[in-house]
Order: sequence, then C-alpha cells, then structure tokens
Amino acid sequence: MSEKISVGLGARSYDIHVGAGLLANAGALLAPHAGKRVPVVTDANVAKLHLDALVASLKNAGISAHPIVVPAGEATKSFAGLEHLCTALLQSGVERGGLIVALGGGVIGDLTGFAAGVLKRGIEFAQIPTTLLAQVDSSVGGKTAINTSEGKNLVGLFHQPRIVIADVGLLATLPPRELRAGYAEVVKYGALGDADFFAWLEAHGAEALGGDSSALTHIVAHSCRMKADIVARDERETGDRALLNLGHTFGHGLEAATGYSDRLLHGEGVAIGTALAFRLSARLGLSPSADTDRIERHLHAAGLPAAISDIAGPRPGVDTLLGHMAHDKKARDGKLTFVLVRGIGHAFVTTDVPVEAVREILAA
Ligand code: NAD
Ligand code: GLY
Repeated sequence: MSEKISVGLGARSYDIHVGAGLLANAGALLAPHAGKRVPVVTDANVAKLHLDALVASLKNAGISAHPIVVPAGEATKSFAGLEHLCTALLQSGVERGGLIVALGGGVIGDLTGFAAGVLKRGIEFAQIPTTLLAQVDSSVGGKTAINTSEGKNLVGLFHQPRIVIADVGLLATLPPRELRAGYAEVVKYGALGDADFFAWLEAHGAEALGGDSSALTHIVAHSCRMKADIVARDERETGDRALLNLGHTFGHGLEAATGYSDRLLHGEGVAIGTALAFRLSARLGLSPSADTDRIERHLHAAGLPAAISDIAGPRPGVDTLLGHMAHDKKARDGKLTFVLVRGIGHAFVTTDVPVEAVREILAA
C-alpha cells in the first residue's frame, strides 16, 4: 500500500510518496528528475543500513550513484559541515540541471537542501527521509538550514525538493527513542488541526509505534497531507504555517536549557512543549483542561515526556527558560509568539500572552 500526496506550489509543486518498500522503487521514481549520475548524501549510520539498497535501485533505473557519507549528528549541520559537503558535491561533478539526493534524517535533509539551494545558484534535490521526524515534517515544505553558535537553524533558505520518497519500512532500523520523538510531531498535527486524527492516534498510535506498516503509512501520509495543505497556503510562514510550531516555543527553550544534548531530543521537547501550550491555553481560559489531560495521557502512553519534571537531571529554572524563549526566531518586537489552542484540533497564533501566566506554567 502506498499513497501519493501533492504539494501545490505552482511550477515548484511536487509529490510525496509514502509507503513500505518504496526504496526499492526509488530509482524509477527519481529517474524523471535525474540525469545518468546523482550524488547521494547520507550519514554514516544510514549508509551502513540503507545506502546499498538505494544504490541498487538507482542502478536498476540506469542511474549511477556517487555516495557522499558525512558524520551522523546535529554537529554536521554547521558552516564546517556545509563547506565540506559543498566541496564534495562540486567534486562529484553535479551539474546545475542535475539532481542531488538526500538519504537520511532531518540533519541530512536540512544540510543537503541548503547546499543544493546555494550550489551553482540552485540545484534540484530529492528527499528520501529515514526518520519518522523527517518523514512527517522536515523533508516536506522546503525549510533548509544549518546551526551557528547563536542558535539552531539560523542560517538557511527555502528550497523545495523535487520529490519526497518516504519508505516507512526504513523506520524498522530506527532506535525506538528516535521513533517516539518523531511521533511527537505526529501528535502535534492532530493537536493543532484535526481532532479526529488525534482520536485515531489515541486508538491506534501504539500500532504505528509497534512498527505496523499500514498504521505507519497512515500517520505519515496524514501528517504530510496536513503539512502540504498548510505549506501550499503559506510557503514563507507569513501566517498559517506558524501553526506547525505548536509546542516549539516552549520546546526550543527546553532544548536550549538542556544544552541540545541527549537529555532531550527535539521531538521530546515538542512533546513537552505541546502539553505546556495546552496547559497555558487552559490557564488562560481558552481550552478545556480535559483536553490537556488527553494530550498528556496520550504522550505518556506513547512513552514520551509531557512535563518539565519528566526530563532527567536538574530542572531548568524559569528565568533560564524565559531567556532562551526570548531568542526564538519567531519573537516579534521582543514579544514571544505562542501557538495556543481552543481545544484539541483548534490552534491559533498569538503574541498576546501575559508573561506571568507563562511563568506559572514553567514553574508548575
Ligand atoms: P537526525 O537526522 O540526526 O537522525 C537521528 C539519528 O537517527 C541519527 O543518528 C541518524 O544517523 C539516525 N538514523 C536516521 N535514519 C535512521 C534509520 N532509518 N535507521 C537507524 N538510524 C537512523 O535527526 P532527525 O530527528 O531526523 O532530524 C532532526 C533535525 O531536523 C534537526 O536538525 C532539526 O532542526 C531538523 N528539522 C527541520 C525541519 C524542517 O522543516 N526543515 C523540521 C523539523 C526538524
Ligand atoms: N517544521 C515547521 C515548518 O516546516 O514550518
């Protein structure tokens, strides 16, 4: 079973293919967009597990692969990592009219997309996401970036992929904690805009987390459909796209306060951030507290943290967290932007949040 979702962006429209076993067919799917030779960028972990299958699939389609393997991990999304990758891509002989393939999680997708966007003033690229987070979020929508010492994702550009191939079978090799972290972004979609999907997750999310292919295909395809719809309406995040940041203002603060370390993965920060956004909304009288309880219950059932106290180690202080949150990219005129909710499935963006209420939520 596979599904195809279109991202409607005029001349830059593209398809997202979702299903189990798609990597074997990747060569045929990429062939209309590729020449006879393509650079394939991946990280050392993914290379060991899935590179050979992609190279074989490309070969069957008459395309020879030029693998570029970079170190795994967030540190690769840096100026040094970008320079290294640009050099390797130029040495691969990729032409302006060619295609670059990104095979990996969000780190590989963000770095490769950025390199593709600036090399020779823009080369097309394809995303083959291999983590749940990348399949439901980072591979779709064209945001690309690297990190600097000032913060995460501060240097980048919008560069839409030509095609996205999400093979849910690749998730079988993902460490369970990474799978759960990606699942937090799936919960986010239900929480922000689709109460029925959230109810489906309450009933069937465990099947997806247990590796069931049709449940995984459903959650990835549904999440991509929701993201595609939002991106088609607001590619550059001047309005609705900000809804995708539900849980992210709190989440980024928590990630920064825990040093972007193993203590808290990005998706885990989003899980706690989503619960806090519901708690803040309830505190402001906007959302029923029963909905906060449902969100927290489901996150915990999925093995995800839902409260600051769920983070191992010393608890980050309120002022530290507020300080990090103030540096959020979404801050406007020094005011924090929050995505709040009027119940499950009804998110909205606001800058009108009393700081005392935020303090209470961070201290609770
Ligand atoms: P990641 O790319 O670091 O992957 C997580 C780990 O899983 C890595 O060690 C990787 O080697 C390993 N891995 C990947 N696929 C695997 C597989 N199939 N089997 C076994 N191991 C595998 O992290 P991520 O969570 O995918 O992405 C996080 C990044 O995405 C962050 O840099 C974040 O800023 C970015 N992001 C971007 C967007 C966007 O819109 N562009 C959205 C959300 C997040
Ligand atoms: N991950 C948020 C966005 O793509 O806008």
